[in-house]
Amino acid sequence: MSDTKVSKTPDLSRRSLLKAGLAAGAVAGSAGAARAGGDPLITEIQDWNRYLGDGVDAAPYGLPSEFEADVVRRNVPWLTADAVASINFTPLHELDGIITPNGLCFERHHGGVAQIRPQDHRLMINGLVDTPLVFTMEDLKRFPRENHVYFLECAANGGMEWRGAQLNGCQFTHGMVHNVMYTGVKLKTLLEEAGVKTNGKWVLPEGADASHMTRSIPMEKALDDCLVAWKMNGEALRPEQGYPLRLVVPGWEGNMWVKWLRRLEVGDQPWHHREETSKYTDLLETGKARRFTWVMDPKSVITSPSPQMPITHGKGPMVISGLAWSGNGRITRVDVSLDGGRNWKTARIDGPSLSKSLHRFYLDIEWDGSDMLLQSRAMDEHGFYQPTKNELRISRGENSIYHNNGIQTWHVKADGSVENVEVA
Ligand code: MTE
Ligand code: CO
Repeated sequence: MSDTKVSKTPDLSRRSLLKAGLAAGAVAGSAGAARAGGDPLITEIQDWNRYLGDGVDAAPYGLPSEFEADVVRRNVPWLTADAVASINFTPLHELDGIITPNGLCFERHHGGVAQIRPQDHRLMINGLVDTPLVFTMEDLKRFPRENHVYFLECAANGGMEWRGAQLNGCQFTHGMVHNVMYTGVKLKTLLEEAGVKTNGKWVLPEGADASHMTRSIPMEKALDDCLVAWKMNGEALRPEQGYPLRLVVPGWEGNMWVKWLRRLEVGDQPWHHREETSKYTDLLETGKARRFTWVMDPKSVITSPSPQMPITHGKGPMVISGLAWSGNGRITRVDVSLDGGRNWKTARIDGPSLSKSLHRFYLDIEWDGSDMLLQSRAMDEHGFYQPTKNELRISRGENSIYHNNGIQTWHVKADGSVENVEVA
């Protein structure tokens, strides 16, 4: 059995490493020894070999295996006063590749989840346009449409970590991000249909939920790559993600991606509503605040090993896996350090490398069983890279919540457990 497993790996050096790993397990008296003696899971007939399983249609809408019950969104109860204006987090440590499954996309609502019958949904365009328009969902689906994979990151992702390591798990430190393929029509197409007047320089999307979320978006971005989307990963948006219609603002902070999108107003200046004044601005040490910090800067995190995903197999070959993304475009390089930033190795980016999308990286190492201080550092196609947490605090002070893209450190201990720490 172990030979079959080993022969799947391509090169001989790797093969001998794996054998060494198995031998080490046997010495420790663990699973390796059991395998050599004949594993009852192979030699004995199991229930699932003996009895027929469920037929087709047992679950008309398929669900994950019952053995994956831990792979769920989670919230941090003390963060918010109630669940209606709250947040939960994507279980990044359990996922691989770059696409977030729809049921695991983190949720951020300011007024709960609006339940809207698609037949009752309308999108209005008004303000500085030649012809104010109202679209039904059916109308929208008659315009030329496009598919794009984009990450959505809440500006507050990592906000609890500004002053030091807080939450023990990348689900909580980095899980306000998801990455799905959207189907929709370009915002540009709809604005052109209404005809933007020459003094129309800003767009105000508005949500139909109880929070009436609004944000000011400059016309240049609105006409560039924004989408009005009704599908995610091929199926209808989930209610939590704005069903039946949401705005997609690639690379920019999640707050601008208005869900349950019902209105687009064109104006000649920004509106300075709540979400772009008292919220989503960054208070500096000087007492002044940065505003309109729209772009999500390059960022990365090692998803495994991580506090919720300890090393359970002992020393030997292992895969360090993580995610990197940038609101500026593609990720061109991710470096990984095993010693708290003293030495760096370039990781392997695997799978599609799409602009403003999550990227998956791997570093295949031989773990000697000693402590590691794991870090990752992403660089994007424009040469922007992640600062250390100290560099970030030097330039932005300690009052900020939003836009923490500092380098994360995980302390991996000899027993394989992992803790969120900061190295100065
Ligand atoms: N749109 C409306 N209408 N209402 C909201 O509460 N929350 C915003 C944004 N759009 C919100 C909204 C915030 S702060 C974020 S981070 C994203 O939606 C979260 O999107 P998600 O729930 O799909 O993860
Ligand atoms: Co947000």
